[in-house]
Amino acid sequence: MCEFTKTNGIQRKFLACVPICSIDIPEQLDLKEQVQIFDATVGDVRVREYPMKCEYQQKFVKKIIATLENNGCEEIYGMFYEILCEFLGSGDDRGTHYRHFLMSNGKVDRLIIRESRNLISDGTTGLCSWQGALALAEWCVFHEDFLRDKKILELGSGVGLTGLTVLNLCSPKSFLFSDCHPRVLDILRSNVDLNSSRIDIDHEIIDLPWENIDEGMGNRLGVDLVIAADVIYDNSLFPLLINGLKLLMRSGNCLGILAMTIRNQETVSEFFKQLNSGGFVFEETDTPEFSIFIKNDETPVKIIKLRYADKNN
Ligand SMILES: C[S@@+](CC[C@H](N)C(=O)[O-])C[C@H]1O[C@@H](n2cnc3c(N)ncnc32)[C@H](O)[C@@H]1O
Repeated sequence: MCEFTKTNGIQRKFLACVPICSIDIPEQLDLKEQVQIFDATVGDVRVREYPMKCEYQQKFVKKIIATLENNGCEEIYGMFYEILCEFLGSGDDRGTHYRHFLMSNGKVDRLIIRESRNLISDGTTGLCSWQGALALAEWCVFHEDFLRDKKILELGSGVGLTGLTVLNLCSPKSFLFSDCHPRVLDILRSNVDLNSSRIDIDHEIIDLPWENIDEGMGNRLGVDLVIAADVIYDNSLFPLLINGLKLLMRSGNCLGILAMTIRNQETVSEFFKQLNSGGFVFEETDTPEFSIFIKNDETPVKIIKLRYADKNN
């Protein structure tokens, strides 16, 4: 394995905060390789500024030191010990942390996303990136041509990972992020501010509870494409969501792309049933291989393409 690949693979996983057990540390690393790994991970300038949780970084450094010590490495880079002491001495009581996603061909070379450490916090599911957000972002990048010059609205944007990836790597005409929860909207705004300095595509964040989507909104916004990730998890929200989609999509040739993590097949089947009786036609579309994010194979994701077909209603 060449040095570059060794550092790269470790860096990508560390920055994205994947579980430490899935980061393979080579048993032998010479000092130069150790310095490269240090500089690309815990010592990286932007990680220092926008850190992932302290406990995570601690575990990472401990794993490197233990792997090298256990394999009889004669010289371990002193900065690993130094930074470990720093982590051990610092409290880590922030509710949010950062994850970094490298994007070599983008307008910016990495997205830095602030999010909660928990799937559900402050009474909302929107403060961290769900698997559907990653899968939908990959889909959009893979189908860049399909998105080109489209006016896109995202429902339930959460912390903004999908939309920011689209703005960074695709060329839509405009992009509207939306959500409804005040804490989610705050964190979404801060992520968009943090990552959009070099984005020259029109974009905006709107407070859009699905229950507030009205008759005229489809025409007013005039979007070509509605996208959403992981908004299909609570049966009680389906009627609101489907009615909102209908009001947004029934004029013009608006299409929809929805990505959903399959945790409970019955929930998804129920959503499909209601979508069908709500006048939509839909089909499952491809789920491209991940090229930017790191896939969690434990949670499969389905992506559907839909349009509103009941023009009489
Ligand atoms: C599971 S999170 C998914 C967030 C993001 N799309 C992702 O995949 O990481 C669901 C999102 O839908 C939003 N949401 C839930 N109910 C909503 C409603 N009635 N109107 C607008 N947004 C809603 C939540 O605030 C949350 O951000």
